[in-house]
Amino acid sequence: MRDHLPEPPDPADLLAWYDRHARQMPWRTPPADKQAGMRPDPYRVWLSEIMLQQTTVVTVRDYFQRFVAIWPTVGDLAAAEDADVMAAWAGLGYYARARNLLKCARMVADQHGGVFPDTVEGLLELPGIGPYTAAAVASIAFDRHATVVDGNVERVMSRLFAVEEPLPRSKQTLTKHAEGLTPSSRQGDYNQAVMDLGATICTPKNPACGICPWRPSCRARAEGIAETLPRKLPKKVKPTRHGIAYVARRPDGAWLLETRPEKGLLGGMLGWPGSDWSDAPTPNPPFDGPWEEVNAEVRHTFTHFHLKLRVMTCWAGSEPKQGHFVPNAEFSSADLPTVMRKVYDVASAALRVN
Ligand code: ADE
Repeated sequence: MRDHLPEPPDPADLLAWYDRHARQMPWRTPPADKQAGMRPDPYRVWLSEIMLQQTTVVTVRDYFQRFVAIWPTVGDLAAAEDADVMAAWAGLGYYARARNLLKCARMVADQHGGVFPDTVEGLLELPGIGPYTAAAVASIAFDRHATVVDGNVERVMSRLFAVEEPLPRSKQTLTKHAEGLTPSSRQGDYNQAVMDLGATICTPKNPACGICPWRPSCRARAEGIAETLPRKLPKKVKPTRHGIAYVARRPDGAWLLETRPEKGLLGGMLGWPGSDWSDAPTPNPPFDGPWEEVNAEVRHTFTHFHLKLRVMTCWAGSEPKQGHFVPNAEFSSADLPTVMRKVYDVASAALRVN
C-alpha cells in the first residue's frame, strides 16, 4: 500500500516560522514591530519591490539605502532630476524600471497627493506597476488580499504539491496553489514568508528540508524528488551580437558621452557613442580619428543576447557629431550602466591625463 499523503500545508505554520526567522531588510517592518502597531511605509515597499524585480536582495540593499537617503519620500523622488535618478540606478540593469519609477513617483505626487493607492486595482493604474508589484505592495504595505508569485514562490509550490509539469507551462497551476494558501489576515507577512522560505530553506540546490516548517506537508519531500523540482523547459540559446564603442577625451580631461534615446536598450542612460549592435556592425565614430583599438574586448550579457564590443580610443580634437563632453570633475564611471562601465575600465588607461 502507498504511504498516506502528507497533511495539507497550514499557512499558520509558515507564519509562526516567519515570526522567528524573517530576514531583516531595510524596507521591511518586522512582524514584532507590526504587532506593536507599526505600519510599513508604502513608498519604501514600492521602491524595494521595483528594485527587486530581476535583481537579488543582496544587490538591492545598497541601492535602496542610497535612494532613500537622497530621496526619503515619494515627493522628494518626484522632484528629482531625471539624470540624477538614472545615475543612481546605474548598475541595477533593466533601465526601463528607473524611467517608470520616476513617472510613477510624479503621478503619485501630482495626482494622488503623495499617497500611494492602497488597492491592487489602484496600484495597477500606475506606470511600471504590473500584477506582481501590485500584489506585493498591496499585501505588504496594506495587508490586502493578494498573492505574490516570484521564482521562490514557484519553487516552494512546485515542491509542496509535487508539480512535475515543467515551467513555464506550470505557472498557472503554481499560482493557483499559492493563491489557495494565502490566509485572510497577515497577507503581507505570508507573501514575504513564502519568499523567505524559498530563499533560505527551499533553495534550488540542497534544500534544508530537515528544518522546513512545511516539511510534514511537502509531497515532493515525501516522494524524494524535492531537489529535482521545479522542472524547467530548456532555455533558448542566446545569440551573440557585435559592436564598436568609441571613448574620446579632450586634453582638459572631459569625456565624450551621450545620453541614450528614451526608447530601447539602456534608454535614458549615459553611454559611449558607438555603432549598432548586430552581426556585422557599421563603424560610426563620432569624429574622424586617429582612433586606436584597445587590445581587449568587452563582453556583456543582456536578457536576450550576448554582446562583444571592440573598444576604440582617441584624443578629441574636432567637434563631435554625436554626444556631449562631460568635465572630468563631473564624471563618475559609477553613473554608467554596467556594459558602459566595462568599456571605461578597458579604455581609461589609454587616455590618462597627467
Ligand atoms: N523579493 C521580492 N520582494 C521581496 C520581499 N518583500 N521579501 C523577500 N524577497 C523578496
